[in-house]
Amino acid sequence: MSRLALKGGTPVRNVRRNPWPRWPVWDEREEKALREVLHSGVWSYNGPGERRFNEAFAKFTGTKYALSLANGTVTLQLALEACGVGYGDEVIVPGLTWQATAAAALDINAVPILVDVTEDTWCLDPAKVEEAITPRTKALIPVHLYGSFADMDAIMAVARKRGLKVIEDCAHKHGGAWKGQKAGSIGDIGSFSFQLSKLMTAGEGGALTTSDPLLYERLDALRNCGRRPEPDAAKKGEGIYGSEGNFLQSGNYRMTDFQAALLLEQLRRLPRHNKNRDKNAQYFNARLAQLPGALPLRRDQRETAEAYYNFSFRYKQEQFKGLPVTRFREALSAELGCRVEASYEPLNACSLYAPYTKPWRYKLTAKHWREIGARRFNLPVCRRIHEEESVCFHHTVLMGTQADMDLILEAIQKIYDNAEDLT
Ligand SMILES: Cc1ncc(COP(=O)(O)O)c(C=O)c1O
Repeated sequence: MSRLALKGGTPVRNVRRNPWPRWPVWDEREEKALREVLHSGVWSYNGPGERRFNEAFAKFTGTKYALSLANGTVTLQLALEACGVGYGDEVIVPGLTWQATAAAALDINAVPILVDVTEDTWCLDPAKVEEAITPRTKALIPVHLYGSFADMDAIMAVARKRGLKVIEDCAHKHGGAWKGQKAGSIGDIGSFSFQLSKLMTAGEGGALTTSDPLLYERLDALRNCGRRPEPDAAKKGEGIYGSEGNFLQSGNYRMTDFQAALLLEQLRRLPRHNKNRDKNAQYFNARLAQLPGALPLRRDQRETAEAYYNFSFRYKQEQFKGLPVTRFREALSAELGCRVEASYEPLNACSLYAPYTKPWRYKLTAKHWREIGARRFNLPVCRRIHEEESVCFHHTVLMGTQADMDLILEAIQKIYDNAEDLT
């Protein structure tokens, strides 16, 4: 039996000879696009690249409008503002997500309500959403986390019944689809991130999608210092621009034309990348189910196109000779020569989601201060996922071949066979 890499043995993958696919992916097309912007001198916002990208991204997501912004954090904040969410309103967010999802609500003086997730998809649990709704709830932000989709049928049903706005956080889901509808086209607004690790990237960046002309108009103004542009011919007759006066107080949340030009190229690559990632993930998951102590996440039958920001599975210590998950991840990382991580920290115990570190900003009243405290929420499923079950890889491990998947499976089996050496 071969020795574990953590114990000085030969790793399953020799990353020097056989490196993992690199990220980001680019070639002379990105180089040419950047050079064109450079020479055009139109480096800032509302340039030709941005216009082309907005049109292409709206078409890609199946929405009427898309807008480019600085990142996928301010997109969430402006989406809430466009929906009229403000001081004291409650916004329901999953407890397991990047801190930006909740911080966006915090930063507009709303109260983020942290709700637990389902154990087999790690996305917002619709049953718990119903329980969390109060007369102050104004909006829900489901996150399509990692490789899963939030249950949009149940979420939209409850939102429509209670008159709530839905903002889909699609930072992980570029190109994913639910019953044929693309992520970002199901709720009232979709929010995307193009930060370096994401499925398409300009280093930083974000986008908003919507099919509602009034929301589009507000979002367009909010991202651009409150300005409302003159209606152009294409938009005439849709009843947009001018319905709320010609200015809306806001700041600068714009994107440069360099980013937009890069994103047009990245969008061209995305469908092929998504397809390859899904082929490998499906192959891997079918075989993972046959190994001890590891469970694939549930793929909902209603997901008609998959997108994986992270590739994750569930670990069961009791079926893996009692080996703690932290030790398992270390061993897997050593065998494969890549990062193997836990899920996000639950937001009620997250080092980066800490409203109480900024009283001069958030202590508006004693009541508000109490309500924004993250620790008042109970998130047992998020806690279990983070502390006991989650095994997560960056999506690049899915960008190679079936042979890469076989190596990951081989590494899991090797760790199981040698688990005694690690306890
Ligand atoms: C679920 C989720 N929402 C929002 C964001 C924020 O995006 P950005 O980093 O572009 O601000 C991220 C970034 O990782 C994310 O993972």
